[in-house]
Amino acid sequence: MTRRGEIVCADLDHLARRAAAEWVRTADEAITRTGRFAVALSGGNTPRALYAKLAGEEFRARIAWERWHFFWGDERSVPPDHPDSNYRTAFEALLSRVPVPPANIHRIETERGPAEAAAAYETALRDFFAVPRGGFSRFDLILLGIGEEGHTASLFPGSAALEESERLVVAVYVEKLSTDRITLTLPALNSAAEVAFLVSGKSKAEVVKRTLRDGADLPAARVAPADGRLLWFLDKEAASFL
Ligand code: 6PG
Repeated sequence: MTRRGEIVCADLDHLARRAAAEWVRTADEAITRTGRFAVALSGGNTPRALYAKLAGEEFRARIAWERWHFFWGDERSVPPDHPDSNYRTAFEALLSRVPVPPANIHRIETERGPAEAAAAYETALRDFFAVPRGGFSRFDLILLGIGEEGHTASLFPGSAALEESERLVVAVYVEKLSTDRITLTLPALNSAAEVAFLVSGKSKAEVVKRTLRDGADLPAARVAPADGRLLWFLDKEAASFL
C-alpha cells in the first residue's frame, strides 16, 4: 500500500529544511534496522537547497555519514565533471563537504556510454541490494523532481522506458532535449521504501495540480511505492493550484 503525504512549505528554504529533517529521520530508521541507509538522489536544481542544508550546521553533526550510501535516480550522459552532471551537482553541494567514504558514492559511470553505463549500474544495484534478476532494489529513500511536462527522473511522457517491467535501469534518448540519459525505471522507483518529490516555484503549479488532483497519466503520477511512503514536498507557489 502507498502511504501518501503532501507537505506545503512557505518557500524553498523551508521546504529544504523540512525535507532534510525527513531525510535524516528516514536514514536513522534504516540504519537502526539494517546498519546502513541507501538513497538515490534526483537531478535538476531544486535539490541543491536540500543538499546545502544537510551539509550545514543544523544537520551535518547529526548524521552517521559512514553509514550512508549515495546513488542517483538518473544521470545525463555527460562526464562527471560536466556542468550538467547530476553527480557533479551533488558532489559540489554536498558530497565534497561531508565525510562520506568514497566507496559509499555509487556514481553512474557515464564514461562507458549510455547502454554500458545503464548495464553496469544495474549490476551494481543488484549486487548492493542482493537482488537477482526478477527482483527489485529497495532504496530506503529516492528523491525525485518533476518537469513541467510531467517527467520524473529521466522518464518522459511517451517514452518506451515507462513500460519497462524487469530492468532496474535503462538508457533512454530524450527527443525533447536531444540527449541520452540513464534512469531508474518505474519498477525500481516503486519498490522503494520511501519516495520524496521536491517541487518549488510557480512554473510547477500546473503540473503539480495535474499530477496530484486531476489524475493525469504523467510519468510522475505513475510513481507510487507499492509498499512504501510517497511524500510531496511543495513550496506555496508550486502548491498554489491545489
Ligand atoms: C534531471 C532530473 C529531473 C529533474 C526535473 C526537475 O536529471 O533533470 O532528474 O527529473 O528532477 O527536471 O528539475 P528542477 O528541480 O531543476 O526543476
